[in-house]
Amino acid sequence: MKIAIASDHAGFDQKPAMIEYLEGLGHEVEDFGPAAPERCDYADFADPVARAVAAGKADRGVLICGTGIGMALTADKVAGIRASVIQTPEFAHLFREHNNGNVLCISGRFTSFDVNKQIVDEFLETEFAGGRHAVRVEKIMREDDPAFEGVAE
Ligand code: RB5
Repeated sequence: MKIAIASDHAGFDQKPAMIEYLEGLGHEVEDFGPAAPERCDYADFADPVARAVAAGKADRGVLICGTGIGMALTADKVAGIRASVIQTPEFAHLFREHNNGNVLCISGRFTSFDVNKQIVDEFLETEFAGGRHAVRVEKIMREDDPAFEGVAE
């Protein structure tokens, strides 16, 4: 799989080890930065990763910041992206199985690297279940369409 990855300063420490782990699993990883641990703004790194996934240049995205929250808020605003903060392998499994998530946002400050590896495993190995979940995901994605006027009351 082609995986786009990035962090901010708070996720920087886990990023090289995560890249090495992903490459060890046989994935092709593109690092969207940062290149150094200086303080930076997560949105500047979530954006190119989300756009790479939305454009089909990467199959999935992995973003690491302090909590994962800022990364998820940013990435999910890009059309075509389903991004979420994930703190447990179980949630990672359901994020794929039910929500067809394509950008995983994890915490470099509150989740250990060992748990983040398990989360990434679930994120990459779990298939979307489709069926009733596909109908629901289609309803999520209509929010990307500027012409969608909302669910009538
Ligand atoms: C940086 O201090 C921190 O705000 C950031 O890494 C992230 O947790 C934001 O959601």
